[in-house]
Amino acid sequence: MKILVVLAHPNPKSFNAAIAQTVLQTLQAGGHEVIFHDLYAENFDPVLKAAEMGKDAVLPLEIQHYCRELALAQGIIMIHPNWWGQPPALLKGWVDRVFRPEVAYRFLEGDRGEGVPEGLLRAEAALVFTTSNTAPLRELEYFGDPLQNIWQNCIFRLCGISRFLRQNFAIVVTSTPEQRREWLQQVTTIVEAFFPKV
Ligand SMILES: Cc1cc2nc3c(=O)[nH]c(=O)nc-3n(C[C@H](O)[C@H](O)[C@H](O)COP(=O)(O)O)c2cc1C
Repeated sequence: MKILVVLAHPNPKSFNAAIAQTVLQTLQAGGHEVIFHDLYAENFDPVLKAAEMGKDAVLPLEIQHYCRELALAQGIIMIHPNWWGQPPALLKGWVDRVFRPEVAYRFLEGDRGEGVPEGLLRAEAALVFTTSNTAPLRELEYFGDPLQNIWQNCIFRLCGISRFLRQNFAIVVTSTPEQRREWLQQVTTIVEAFFPKV
């Protein structure tokens, strides 16, 4: 399968980078075609320009390229830390610019954007791996776990992907090397379950 993998973390030595490495190794071992973007390493510009708004906009080549990859992906995997209950701004901007009308979703005839759009993404499944420093119960009860709603409902379900799993790893800052190894093993297990060997 053709799997799009996106990492958003500024530090190549971070645990997020280790997750991305594990994801890539697992997919490659499974015989998948992997398209990988490390958005910080690519110095992606996350600012959506006025000229790109509107479904008939003429897009920069770089954005056209990302859009084509997203539209053709049979699986999508995102990896990022929890920053203020949200993805890093760089990744938020990538979604703003790449999950476009006529690529990721479309409003039906006569709907100017007030209704429920049709999801256009063809990926069979989406996985999101996140990391944080908040205990799981506090994240859920006090903060309402906003990342779950953002990725599952606001983005992937709206764009037509209902087979979805988000796995958060916490608490990273106090985790031992052994705990991290276990988490990376979980990453492998989840990726293999969603995207079995071809
Ligand atoms: C700008 C910023 C905002 C953060 N906001 C949160 C937060 O809202 N909740 C949380 O649990 N951790 C928060 N953190 C901690 C990160 O989630 C944590 O450092 C990261 O998940 C650890 O993974 P890493 O070692 O790969 O960076 C924040 C960190 C930064 C730098």
